[in-house]
Amino acid sequence: MSRKFPESVVFIVAPDADGAPNVMPAGWSMFSSNDPLMMAVSVGLERYTHDCLRDADDYVIAFPSAAQTEDIVYCGSNSGADLDKISESGLEPAASAEIETPILEDAAACFECRPGGSFRTGDHRIFAGEIVAAHVSETYEETVNNLGRAWGDGPERFKTLSELLGAEHTPP
Ligand SMILES: Cc1cc2nc3c(=O)[nH]c(=O)nc-3n(C[C@H](O)[C@H](O)[C@H](O)COP(=O)(O)O)c2cc1C
Repeated sequence: MSRKFPESVVFIVAPDADGAPNVMPAGWSMFSSNDPLMMAVSVGLERYTHDCLRDADDYVIAFPSAAQTEDIVYCGSNSGADLDKISESGLEPAASAEIETPILEDAAACFECRPGGSFRTGDHRIFAGEIVAAHVSETYEETVNNLGRAWGDGPERFKTLSELLGAEHTPP
């Protein structure tokens, strides 16, 4: 088994060594504590984002809206080691409330995080972050789930729940 499906998808926004924010989608995430409120993500050791998170004073975990589906594919198919994914994609950064790293416009929800510990699990490292501010979109669109179609074959591999069930099941 190489991957588990279905999985929700988050964006990790983390600053690189120059302070420029880089964006990576991650399917492996979870809330990990109520008090304080914390989230954890599991990031491959070879990812550019791994070193960004290792050295970051703060970072953002954002739940993409359906409108950001192509950005998930783009940011998951390219590395911040090679290019500036925010300026090359349609993603719009916006000022955070408590931290330096920007939140993302059009995301369904954004959580501002400060590092709360990490440990290695095989070829990935789990980074836990304490949530210091949260934003939920007023024009909330569905979040995006990865239902495990072939790796990297474009937006078709991502389906929202409504797309899967049919328009009559669109949430109010
Ligand atoms: C839907 C989706 C989910 C992904 N989930 C993870 C994950 O949980 N952990 C991980 O390390 N990489 C995951 N990836 C792969 C990274 O997003 C991808 O390698 C990305 O290009 C890394 O960017 P970076 O080098 O700028 O950090 C996922 C990719 C996609 C498209």
